[in-house]
Amino acid sequence: MPTTQIVYDCSVAAAILRDGGLVAFPTETVYGLGADATNQAAIQRLFLAKGRPSDNPLIVHLAAVRDWRMAASELTESAKQLLAAFSPGPLTTVLPKSPKIVSSVTGGLNTVGIRIPFAPLALELIAATNLPIAAPSANLSGRPSCTTWQAVLEDLDGRIDAVLAGPPCGIGLESSVVDCTSQHPILLRAGGISLTQLQQVIAEARALPTTSDAAGIGLASPGLRHPHYQPTARVILVGEDALAELPQQPSPAESAYCGLTPPPDDSTLAYIQLYPSVEDYARGYYEFLRETDRRHLRTAFVELVSPTEIGGALRDRQQRSAAREL
Ligand code: TXA
Ligand code: MG
Repeated sequence: MPTTQIVYDCSVAAAILRDGGLVAFPTETVYGLGADATNQAAIQRLFLAKGRPSDNPLIVHLAAVRDWRMAASELTESAKQLLAAFSPGPLTTVLPKSPKIVSSVTGGLNTVGIRIPFAPLALELIAATNLPIAAPSANLSGRPSCTTWQAVLEDLDGRIDAVLAGPPCGIGLESSVVDCTSQHPILLRAGGISLTQLQQVIAEARALPTTSDAAGIGLASPGLRHPHYQPTARVILVGEDALAELPQQPSPAESAYCGLTPPPDDSTLAYIQLYPSVEDYARGYYEFLRETDRRHLRTAFVELVSPTEIGGALRDRQQRSAAREL
């Protein structure tokens, strides 16, 4: 593949997608890697470009809720209510799949995740294609997601046709994935919309247990059983009450720290990133992990957050980036 083009114009990016190409684009959560969800060859190239396991289904992105028939065969009552409340936005609803979507998009599942992003560039791009656009996060499989177009190129330059260069992502963590195919909605992946917010619309909404029950999660949302969000550095979680001292091995000079509160002894750490709020922490977390790799650091100490609102999604990503095996 020739080198990846940097494009600034949605109509140029849309033409590449309509031709079966791969285009990364900004959303309010993370950058996505788009491909035509009705084009078998394009989807095959997408899985190859990311090195993504073929059993991990892709989210299909639409320009408006009223386009749901482009991807799903049925809009269930719970999906209707949740989409009315949270779309466009960081919500993915899992619905019965339409045959228009090629089966490799969903890894053979008979359900499909649909999302209507909020970011204006994403909406403009998708609308200009007039297609359902499959878009996983635009990173090499297993690596931290990307919140800037420059980070996308670090992973995917030469492997994709273009990146639509836009602003950094405002939320910084992925959408909440909610199974809306059974009687009550089930939160499969914590994200930009919290369980409390979902329950304000549908009181019966509940969450799957997060990291511990890997087998159960694997069945419900296949992507969750693969390693995710991991830099080369080893991520070590620092609990709220474990801040008195950081381990001295490996050497602090090869270590980084991020969190809401300063580390106990910051004089010898190579890189420290502090955030004024949990929202800023969520927005910056993947970029912090990527920066540890740019600096060739060996250890990243990560201050755990408490699991309320966006903290629920951030804590989930913190745990996954530290998990060497599930
Ligand atoms: O915010 C986001 O959701 C971003 C942006 C680009 O929209 N996309 C994203 O895609 O995070 P990806 O591929 O990195 O993660 C998709 C997640 C995986 O955990 C996958 O297993 C789950 O969604 N998923 C997709 N379709 C599903 C389905 N039919 N049933 C259950 N889980 C599904
Ligand atoms: Mg991803």
